[in-house]
Amino acid sequence: MYEAAVLTVSDRSFRGRRPDGAGPVVASLLEAAGYRVIETALVPDEQPDIEAALIRLAARAALVVTTGGTGFSPRDVTPEATLAVCQRLTPGIPEAMRAASLTVTPRAMLSRAAAGIRDGALIVNLPGSPKAARENLEAVLPTLEHGLKMLLGGPADCAPEK
Ligand code: MTE
Repeated sequence: MYEAAVLTVSDRSFRGRRPDGAGPVVASLLEAAGYRVIETALVPDEQPDIEAALIRLAARAALVVTTGGTGFSPRDVTPEATLAVCQRLTPGIPEAMRAASLTVTPRAMLSRAAAGIRDGALIVNLPGSPKAARENLEAVLPTLEHGLKMLLGGPADCAPEK
């Protein structure tokens, strides 16, 4: 069982103007997939705050999933914070999320979500609405465990799945 953390990035939720809808959705999807969610956190759309939270959570959990701040608005900087704290990128994960999401809505192309590796942790960005967060996470969640196995040095058999 891997440990996971969820980071919601939202000015409005941080100021108490909107309940955090996506964070609990993400946490329950992770738990249903067998992860132990050790922390959920909430930060505003401020790159230094996001980076500090990512660094802290990545030191504690094998998987850190963010939700929010991946769009085009001037304050959407979650991907930039993610790129700043990762040593290696994992572009296939957001590629797969966008490919799956494009079958739901053409607006999926507007997500700038990134994913990458910081030390022994995988960081994955999701969009901010509960529906979009669910659709994006469901597209990649079954495959993340294999990546974490490789990352954390366990035996990872890459033989194709039947
Ligand atoms: N992906 C899926 N699967 N479903 C959605 O409804 N919404 C899109 C996109 N990805 C969406 C989606 C929209 S409208 C935007 S603006 C971007 O995600 C970025 O969302 P964010 O700014 O909340 O992070």
